[in-house]
Amino acid sequence: MQEFTPSLGTPKEELDTPSFIIDLDAMENNIEKMASYCRSKSINLRPHTKHHKSPDIAKKQIAAGAIGICCQKLGEAEIMASHGIDNILITYEIIGSFKIRRLMALAKSTKVSVTVDDVANVVDLSEAANAAQVSIGVLLDVNVGQNRCGVEPDKSVIDLAQAVEAAPGLQFLGIHAYNGAIQSVEDDDKRKSLDSDSMEKTLAAINHLRSAEIPCEIVTAGGTGTYNMTGSYSHITEIQPGSYVFMDAQYGRVLPDFVNAGTIIASVISRPTQDRAVIDCGMKALSTDQWPPIIKSASGLTVASASDEHLTITLESETSQQLRPGDKVELIPGHNDTTVNLHTHLFGMRNNRLEVIWPVSARAMIR
Ligand SMILES: Cc1ncc(COP(=O)(O)O)c(C=O)c1O
Repeated sequence: MQEFTPSLGTPKEELDTPSFIIDLDAMENNIEKMASYCRSKSINLRPHTKHHKSPDIAKKQIAAGAIGICCQKLGEAEIMASHGIDNILITYEIIGSFKIRRLMALAKSTKVSVTVDDVANVVDLSEAANAAQVSIGVLLDVNVGQNRCGVEPDKSVIDLAQAVEAAPGLQFLGIHAYNGAIQSVEDDDKRKSLDSDSMEKTLAAINHLRSAEIPCEIVTAGGTGTYNMTGSYSHITEIQPGSYVFMDAQYGRVLPDFVNAGTIIASVISRPTQDRAVIDCGMKALSTDQWPPIIKSASGLTVASASDEHLTITLESETSQQLRPGDKVELIPGHNDTTVNLHTHLFGMRNNRLEVIWPVSARAMIR
């Protein structure tokens, strides 16, 4: 298979398709822009790597100033740690003895923290950490409006924090107050107002803990959509955005601060009628949530339908009807987190030539 790996320097139009390609200049600008925002606010940046799933990109984020990374799944954290990345916050509840054993194994070599919202889980984590002679950082997962996981920002945070503080092997670090539901609200004022509600809830949780003399070393919140809203509150110590690295069609409608850097390059495989083209990236190469993708490379093309390995496109203009089998089409996926997860490699391009190939090492690490 190795002989079919494209050599560095290959022009974009000659890459085999479908491939996930990165505009390296755009990605590096995005990484630097987020890092410099955090520097300007004196807050820490801990990017969420569920977006790109690549230890190589995580290392670039750390080189630009990130203090560590977030992972959603333990399996992602194991991969990142195996590539030498330290200081990992798993923004997920680690439940069940099998996973807890894996977490302890990871903590032997890596500084790792997790979120909790349940006292019984605290007891399980503590017993395992104590037995394994490791220390696990713990943040309370607080529901600040997403109504997903998390304890309510009322007095119950005190009981949970005290349980963590009393638990051998666990180190209470603070609060995880992420609200994913508001990140893609397109109206800026509405997003800002929803973020303000979340930040009030976060402050309420902090104040309950203060009343019990429990200080929070870390208060983390905020994704790409609210990075500069969440990041401006003085009670926030770090933010955890992910999508700013590649952006995608959905996020492109939310904010202009970061540019699209991650696209799919595909080939026309069939031109059955005058106004129909079929390209080689169906839903196994391009996720269909946040539908539709944007066709970047040409105008007069609209996405008609997707099947497993085919994407059918309507050609609406005379120019677009010139497309022939073998021609290339570049698309901005609706959602890049889920699209990247479908790919084995990321192809980094500069000046339209292949500069680097990175494996998507943490793809499918759902356990
Ligand atoms: C817990 C958590 N933190 C951070 C992020 C990153 O958010 P975004 O990709 O909107 O920047 C996500 C994304 O889903 C998330 O689930």
